[in-house]
This record gives sequence, structure tokens and C-alpha cells, in this order.
Amino acid sequence: MNKHRIAVIPGDGIGVDVINEGIKVIDTAKELTGGFDVEYTHLPWSCEYYLKTGRMMPEDGLDILKDHEAIYLGAVGFPGVPDHISLWGLLLPIRKEFDEYINLRPIKLLKGIQSPLRKGPEDIDFVVVRENVEGEYSGAGGIVHQGTPSETAIQTSIFTRVGTERVIRYAFELARKRGGKKSLISATKSNALNYSMVFWDRVFNEVAKDYPDVTARLMHVDALAGYFILKPEQIDVVVASNLFGDILTDLGSAMQGSIGIAPSANINPEKKYPSMFEPVHGSAPDIAGKGIANPIGAIWTASMMLDFLGESDAARLVFKAMEAVTEEGTYLTADLGGKATTQQVGEAVRNKMRQLV
Ligand code: NAD
Ligand code: IPM
Ligand code: MN
Repeated sequence: MNKHRIAVIPGDGIGVDVINEGIKVIDTAKELTGGFDVEYTHLPWSCEYYLKTGRMMPEDGLDILKDHEAIYLGAVGFPGVPDHISLWGLLLPIRKEFDEYINLRPIKLLKGIQSPLRKGPEDIDFVVVRENVEGEYSGAGGIVHQGTPSETAIQTSIFTRVGTERVIRYAFELARKRGGKKSLISATKSNALNYSMVFWDRVFNEVAKDYPDVTARLMHVDALAGYFILKPEQIDVVVASNLFGDILTDLGSAMQGSIGIAPSANINPEKKYPSMFEPVHGSAPDIAGKGIANPIGAIWTASMMLDFLGESDAARLVFKAMEAVTEEGTYLTADLGGKATTQQVGEAVRNKMRQLV
């Protein structure tokens, strides 16, 4: 029997509540489909941990994570610890050190959920492939002349040939095999960013030659944001740099009805290191501790993780049950206009799974 080792980092705020529900869903999937086992390593790394120890994770944190197949993470960051400290102490080093250079973020409207756009589930169904380890998030830069009138902050984007080409190639492959319109839009801004994005476009056009069957298109990211809203039904796959992908996918999550729904997978395609699975949303300090966070994003993320682990039956069961719950509409959290608690939505998904097998 396949046994999967998963490191669990609930993190901060609502991360804890939603991961709790996700784990129970995974366990139910395991019971119902059989054929695999899961071993969890629970890790309390968070802002609370930082306030106690002075670190977001122990010095050998990455070594601890390394011998797991996957990492299931809630959210990192909470008032009391500056965000750049918490994120650069945990989430961002994991993405970088484990070379999770692909961030897959499906933008798909689930049945029963009202999009703020006048569009239905058949109109909103695409994937953003976000570059996840370099670009605007390379962490290079500094502040000079601090405390003087000429104080200057420099934040340098780094786009390497290897890093740019591999994410673009991955997106073309996905567009080819996804079963959609076989089209790929690249988010650019080469009108203003005269080095990074001019380079990005050149690589995109080069790689496009290997995929004559895929319709390739460059769009400036500002225009693309408008296109998301006006013509989502035209979109199949989007490839974007780290920052552009970050912003576009929060926009995408709103199109899906709530950021509480959106899932994401940080993938190291070579499987040399663990991949990490986390909902798109953050720790939501404004609703933390109230038990009303939407767990759908974390549950959908769990489905993506099961799929990655090769447990496609379990992944499908989780997704189907989750969408049956949104379609029915009895158990929805407040962000979707409902009254259900985080736990009630999790329970509803698990009950649905039992009905569906
Ligand atoms: P956020 O996603 O935490 O919250 C934005 C808004 O969406 C809030 O109103 C919140 O209540 C709501 N929301 C988010 N998730 C929800 C859910 N599951 N159900 C219902 N409502 C939900 O973004 P923010 O406020 O910009 O960030 C808060 C903290 O989280 C910051 O420290 C930030 O750096 C961090 N953050 C972490 C991650 C991550 O770890 N992956 C992602 C984004 C933000
Ligand atoms: C996300 C988050 C992170 C990012 C932050 C918390 C560093 O917004 O996963 O989308 O920008 O990647
Ligand atoms: Mn984000």
C-alpha cells in the first residue's frame, strides 16, 4: 500500500481552522477509496512560534521538510510580526529552496456559486501558471542612504533564462494537454519594463515555435486584468511572472466568488524536493478565531495534493463532493452569503463524499 508522508504547517489565523478541515477530508478520502495511507508530520511553525523562539521555523526546518512528499500549508503572517519577516522566514524560502517553480492556480467557478460577474461556471474555467521562485520576488535589493533625504529603496527583479523558459514551457505543455482551447496568454508589460519583460517576451516567442498547435498570445498585464473580467470564457491558460501571477490570481479568486475558495499548488515538477499545497488566501486576521473561515480553498487544495500524489480517485471524490456542497448551497460560509461555520462546511463535504462512493 502506498504511504504518503505529508508535512502539515497550519500556520497562522484561519490557516489552522481550514487545514484542520482539509486533513479530515483527506482522511475520509483515504477510508472511502482505500489503497493508500497517509502519515502526517504536524509542525507548529507560525508567527506564534516566532514570538516564542525568534524564528519562523527551526534552523534545520528545510531538512525536516525534505523527506516528505508534500507540504500542506494554511497561511503565514499575522499582526505582531512584520509580514516581510514572517513570509521570508517560512513560506518564501520553502518555495525557493525546494525549487517549486510552478504555481498552479485554477480559476474555476464552482456550481452554485454566484460570480460577481454576469457569468456562469461554463464561462470561468482557466488556469494561471505563476512563476514561483524568481522575478520580482528574487529578494535582491537594499535601502541606501537610510535616514537621509536621498534615502532610496532598490528592489531588483531577476529573470534567468532557465527560470523563464521552464515556466513558459510548462504552460505551453499544459495548454496542449488540458483539453481546452489550446491557447496560452502570456502576461507581459514590455512596454514599460524594458529589460525583464522584453526578455520574457523574447523567450515566450522562442518557446512558442515548439508549440504550433497552441495559440500563443502576449497581453500587457493591465489589459489582461480587464480581459479577465470582460471575456473570461476566452481564456484557457495564462502564464505570468511571480508578482503579476500573484495579483492576477487574487482577481481570479474574486471572479470565483471569494478568495476563500481559491486553491494553489507550488510544484517542483522534477519531484526532487517536496511540493507545497496551500489555499491562495492568507491568515485573514479580521475573521480569525471566529470559526467562520471558508474551508473550500483548503479542501480544493487537498484535492490537488491528492492528485499530485497519484491518488486520482480520492482527488476526484473530494472535488465532486465539494462542488456538490456548493451546488446545493445549504452549507456556505459568510463570505458566500451563508451562515455555516468552517466545521459545518467540512462536515458537509465529508458527508457528501460518503454518499458519492
Ligand atoms: P487575506 O487573504 O488573509 O484576507 C483578505 C480578505 O479575504 C479578508 O477580508 C479576509 O477575511 C477574507 N478571507 C480570506 N480568506 C478567507 C476565507 N478562507 N474565508 C472567508 N474569508 C476569507 O489577505 P490579507 O488580509 O492581505 O493578509 C493577511 C495576512 O496573511 C498577511 O500577513 C499576509 O501577508 C498573509 N498572507 C499569507 C498568505 C499565505 O501564507 N499563502 C497568502 C496571502 C496573505
Ligand atoms: C500568495 C501570497 C504570498 C505571495 C505572500 C503572502 C508572500 O500573497 O501566496 O499569493 O505573494 O506569493
Ligand atoms: Mn497572493
